[in-house]
Amino acid sequence: MTAPLGDVLRDYDADAPLEQAFTIPAPWYVDPRVYELEKKAVFGGWQVVGRLDQVREPGRFFTAEVAGEPLVIVRGRDGGLRAFFNVCRHHAAAVATEEQGQASSLRCPYHGWTYSLEGELRGTPDFDGVCGFDRGQNGLVPARLDTWESFVFVQLEPGPTLPEFLGRLPERIRPLGLDRLHFVERRRYEFDSNWKVFVDNYLDGGYHIPFLHKGLDSVLDYAGYTIENEDRFCLQSSPVVDSGRDAATAAVRKGDRALYYWLYPNFMINWYEGVMDTNLVLPLGVDRTLVLFDFYFTDVSSEAAMARNRASVDVGERIQGEDTGICASVQRGLGSRAYRAGRLSVRREAGEHLFHRLIAADLRRVYAGRRG
Ligand code: FES
Ligand SMILES: [Fe+2]
Repeated sequence: MTAPLGDVLRDYDADAPLEQAFTIPAPWYVDPRVYELEKKAVFGGWQVVGRLDQVREPGRFFTAEVAGEPLVIVRGRDGGLRAFFNVCRHHAAAVATEEQGQASSLRCPYHGWTYSLEGELRGTPDFDGVCGFDRGQNGLVPARLDTWESFVFVQLEPGPTLPEFLGRLPERIRPLGLDRLHFVERRRYEFDSNWKVFVDNYLDGGYHIPFLHKGLDSVLDYAGYTIENEDRFCLQSSPVVDSGRDAATAAVRKGDRALYYWLYPNFMINWYEGVMDTNLVLPLGVDRTLVLFDFYFTDVSSEAAMARNRASVDVGERIQGEDTGICASVQRGLGSRAYRAGRLSVRREAGEHLFHRLIAADLRRVYAGRRG
């Protein structure tokens, strides 16, 4: 018999200190009701949807999906950047259908209704004689948008402002000078697991690196790994060394320290000297996840630099391949009757502990609100 959702959500002690804490329980990773609740409770908050370089000039736009909601982000003629639900006010078709592009207006492909870049309804073919229809009330429905560094965020449910949400993250990131980095390429990786399995794997403080990522392990000082939690983000950091055990990885993972920033719930910024990638973790279903990797580099000036950059992306791809199998394996285990929850390493898994407490707070708040 399936337990009531309220019981499932109560089955986690968010007040337990790390030494006494368990992970969030297995049903939270496999129960479709939890997955549905997360759409509002977790993904209704600030979400990265794209990059500013995609929408620099008036008329540039890109589309995105957040928790099943289709969105279009467009730079208006007035220079303003706006987000709209990508849903035509006539019969709900997607108005913008390309992943990104340039347009002078947005025309729905279904019956040709046309919207300005600022979202106003302008053209409605063969629509004379319709009573009580006010064009002015039928523009594209806006969504809340803000930006930080080169990242475009959207928020679908009422909540804190973006600066409130980010807390001290901007001041921590500012010295890295992200504006010196150039976006080079996006890669997509799919995982047969719940999205939280990928985030847990990321937030285990390097625990799995010596076992699963031999190449990466050869350039990190595992013993010197540090973990710092803030309100809604975690910084994991490791000294970079060259052990001489893996020349391919050492060639593209340099500098003093590797910095791994995670922003609740699903965005990561991974920084090495001259190299950055971001990860955006997108649930496709309760046990299926898409992760978008955007790769950035400081030096894109020559063929030799670009060859180095490609080699760096290849190293990243190898590491993802090593994580793919383990995420699927964990998802299978979470569905087993033999597993309910696990303990956390005090030395390594403080980031995971923060993630689980934040998830629990959001799920319980929205669940309680629904029940009035
Ligand atoms: S649904 Fe867009 S014009 Fe009909
Ligand atoms: Fe990993």
